[in-house]
Amino acid sequence: MVESLETVLVEYDEDRGVGTLTMNRPDALNALSAQLRDDIVAGLERLEERNDGADGVELRAVVLEGAGGKAFCAGADIGGFCGESSGGSSARSHYDFIRDFPAPVVAKVDGYCLGGGFETALACDFRLASESSTFGFPEVTLGILPGAGGVQDVTKIAGPAVAKELAMTGEHISAARADEEGLVNRVYADDEFDAEVDDFVTDLAGQAPLAVQAIKRSADMAVNSGLEEGIAYDRSLFQELLRTEDHAEGAAAFSEDREPEFEGK
Ligand code: CAA
Repeated sequence: MVESLETVLVEYDEDRGVGTLTMNRPDALNALSAQLRDDIVAGLERLEERNDGADGVELRAVVLEGAGGKAFCAGADIGGFCGESSGGSSARSHYDFIRDFPAPVVAKVDGYCLGGGFETALACDFRLASESSTFGFPEVTLGILPGAGGVQDVTKIAGPAVAKELAMTGEHISAARADEEGLVNRVYADDEFDAEVDDFVTDLAGQAPLAVQAIKRSADMAVNSGLEEGIAYDRSLFQELLRTEDHAEGAAAFSEDREPEFEGK
């Protein structure tokens, strides 16, 4: 399936259960216009429909990327956001939608990843970057701050000194530095980037989908709660997973010395 929304291409690979959303405003380095933000949400909703009435979990993972080869996303559309908040409106923003999406969302970052684009990548579950990518918060040069939680996220991941450095100087950092600071999961050579991301996502999509969904909820809970509350939550998820067919399949595959076939049931 390939569907073209106004500013986002939606693809679905049935064999792997992998959806791909391509932010498609290459002439503006995929800057986040209101339309693009809406289309990211609409694209995720389309992909989520794959699980409607399906037997088990069909959609296993989503890749979010930018068109044009120069940018993942250069942030909010500077022409269009004056006076508007970044993800702060009462409607659910695309950031919230990505964070709450049941399947893991992988940011495939190739090129500039700036401002609201960096915050979009931070809302994803994984950030995979090509080595020539750069990251930064240029908002300070516009007299504002990253308005969708970028300082909060970077502080939690890399500490306040790194968050302040990025947000106060507006300087771009390399993918290698982002990796050192724990802001990306993997950095791949430019010429191997597509194949490496494909392998990563194929592996991710092959894991037991209900367990993957539960782990996403657990890790996000850990970031925002105390240890005791987090462990109690994990216990309830664990009890739920023990009752799934995927768990029985995983255990059977282990004792029969074969690869498991998970169906998300
Ligand atoms: N919004 C709108 N258009 C943008 C854009 C943005 N954020 N970033 C780039 N573009 C456009 C440029 O205007 C240019 O369009 P034209 O060809 O029509 O002139 C085109 O994309 C290519 O950009 P450049 O010619 O500038 O390319 P470059 O290689 O010389 O520079 C860049 C690339 C360093 C990323 C530079 O474009 C840049 O600094 N962009 C702005 C980045 C920025 O400040 N982002 C933060 C916005 S604020 C935010 O994100 C917070 C929030 O959520 C509210």
